[in-house]
Amino acid sequence: MYKSEQLALNIRQLIENGAWKPHSKLPSLREQSHMSGYSLMTVLNAYQELEAQGLVYAKQKSGFYVAEHFNSQPVHTASSLSLNSNIQMNSLVFRYLKSIQSETVCPLGSAFPNAELLFNAKLMQILAQHAKRKSSYFSHDHMPPGHNELRKIIANRYCLQGIPTHADDIVITSGALDALNLSLQALTKPGDFILLQETIFYGAWQAAERLGLQVITIPEHPVSGFDIASFEQALKQYPIKVCWLMLNSHNPIGFSVRHEIKQRIAELLEEYQVYLIEDDVYQELYYGAQKPLPMKYFDKTQRVLHCSSFSKTLGAAVRVGWVYAGQFSNAIQHLQLMSTVSASPLLQNSLVDFLSHHHYEKHVRLLRSQLEKHKKVFYQQLKQRLNPACKIHYYSSGYFLWVELPINLDGYAVYQALIQQQIGIAPSQLFRSEHVKQNFIRLNCSFAWTAEIEHAVTVLAEVIQQHITAHEQLEI
Ligand SMILES: Cc1ncc(COP(=O)(O)O)c(C=O)c1O
Repeated sequence: MYKSEQLALNIRQLIENGAWKPHSKLPSLREQSHMSGYSLMTVLNAYQELEAQGLVYAKQKSGFYVAEHFNSQPVHTASSLSLNSNIQMNSLVFRYLKSIQSETVCPLGSAFPNAELLFNAKLMQILAQHAKRKSSYFSHDHMPPGHNELRKIIANRYCLQGIPTHADDIVITSGALDALNLSLQALTKPGDFILLQETIFYGAWQAAERLGLQVITIPEHPVSGFDIASFEQALKQYPIKVCWLMLNSHNPIGFSVRHEIKQRIAELLEEYQVYLIEDDVYQELYYGAQKPLPMKYFDKTQRVLHCSSFSKTLGAAVRVGWVYAGQFSNAIQHLQLMSTVSASPLLQNSLVDFLSHHHYEKHVRLLRSQLEKHKKVFYQQLKQRLNPACKIHYYSSGYFLWVELPINLDGYAVYQALIQQQIGIAPSQLFRSEHVKQNFIRLNCSFAWTAEIEHAVTVLAEVIQQHITAHEQLEI
């Protein structure tokens, strides 16, 4: 972790603990430098990082102050467990994905990062070389559990994070969604109880709907993102078999959960004998110097199936994923042989070459810095353009911003108005099971600030303003 990040984290904790109240002034740069022993530049970087996160604001010639909404405004409003036994999400997701599919739609609603940042010429060169080799077409690596060398490389990457792993623990899949679906299917039967976060990637809802599962949800925690008390209560109250969670770079909200909370989750999984399917598809897209640890790191009793892929770093064209399946490797391979079999051997062979020569590390390093740069520009631009009643939740990873509209507004209505103008955004109804009015939208901020993007964001701000005005008139 950089010194400025460490300092920003310390200050964040003070604000979270309520030690510094909204609108109280932070120590001046000089005072903070004196107190902490860090240089003025480090302190300035830390304050600017906190400003970008929306935790503090700067007043000209006066200094930095704690932001109003941070202490008082939860990420989400609901706050109890809920049982969802009749999920109906597939049709909504299908209609939504079709609506944003055309190239003429501005992709602020897309789940994929800007393809221009993902394209890698070296990988394409390696792919072309493999495409010319006969051996690429007659290999047995298309059969589960997938290419042995690729599994060894992935296992090694876990070992480097301090997670003891053998190639046999890994099963290669056709992307992360395949890994997640296969894991859930291997661990459940229809009617079983599973636990999800209240706001979560729609793939989890679709899988639960398809497999006929009963879903208990826990609310997001206003500050840490993960409500450990509700999690414990849910495990106590319901016969939950499996949890499906995102704890790093959460989609759609963006938070990453602290290590102490992950440690506690692992203890509770063991105490209640529950399995966890961990969706860690954005694991490489952190901004600091340190990759956040997955839940798998804290899993001493083999209860976590960790799923990820290369789709968010190399693009949909390289849709190869994997699951750290451990003891469930055979069960998952059985299911694969009845469904998706494995990822393309051509892609698996090419990835082995690409990964073993450090091209991947170089690629993701550049990707991370570009995503961070673009997201910061979006954040600043949105702050200038959106009505101040909108709150932008900024987290230091990935490429999504989670925007909270004024309470009476409906994210879905805003989406409908925008899609007619060929602008896509993702309303929160895609990520929560109840189809009621909800005032959140997710924006994909992985794009450079071009005239097209500027136009789309300007129209977004205008549409939101029109909805705010319409509501104000209704209330008169
Ligand atoms: C949170 C999350 N998990 C899983 C996936 C699926 O990843 P893949 O494309 O590798 O199947 C996505 C894709 O958008 C996602 O956003």
